Amino acid sequence: MSKERNPASSPLPAEGALDRILDGGPFARADLIGLLHRIQAECGHIPREAVVRLSERLGLTEEEIASVVTFYRAFSFAPRGGHRITVCTGTACHVRGARRVVDECRRILGIEPGGTTPDGVCTLETVNCVGACALGPIVIADGATHGHMNPGKAADLVAEILSEADEPA
Ligand code: FES
Repeated sequence: MSKERNPASSPLPAEGALDRILDGGPFARADLIGLLHRIQAECGHIPREAVVRLSERLGLTEEEIASVVTFYRAFSFAPRGGHRITVCTGTACHVRGARRVVDECRRILGIEPGGTTPDGVCTLETVNCVGACALGPIVIADGATHGHMNPGKAADLVAEILSEADEPA
């Protein structure tokens, strides 16, 4: 099972990451999405400072940049946890019980979808269809796709992630 580790678990100083990304220019307005992806990947979120600096570099208003950040689920103003659990709640997964999977994750983690545990270990998200409907309900944990999920399997998966988080680095 391949896993991605969210860099928010060991965040780089945002300022240094932003310098590295934004000093590379010149950039055009069309580069906005690509730059946001790089900032999200390196910082684990889109810091406020990034919006200000992108506005200066690209000649876009801060409002224009903020609207792009909020439109795409790939971007987040709030720091995400070191681990990400995403439950598909699209129609095919929903009819196969995705809501119960979400509820089990909520219960164990003590957070609502869109939230991050207070210790920053785990973020819970929902998404509408990831294109693997036949395998639903789908859970994506740290980039790895898990099909045919149910509340019991979700509980095991969350427990595995939490125990991994407890292991010394
Ligand atoms: S509805 Fe969940 S993968 Fe399509």
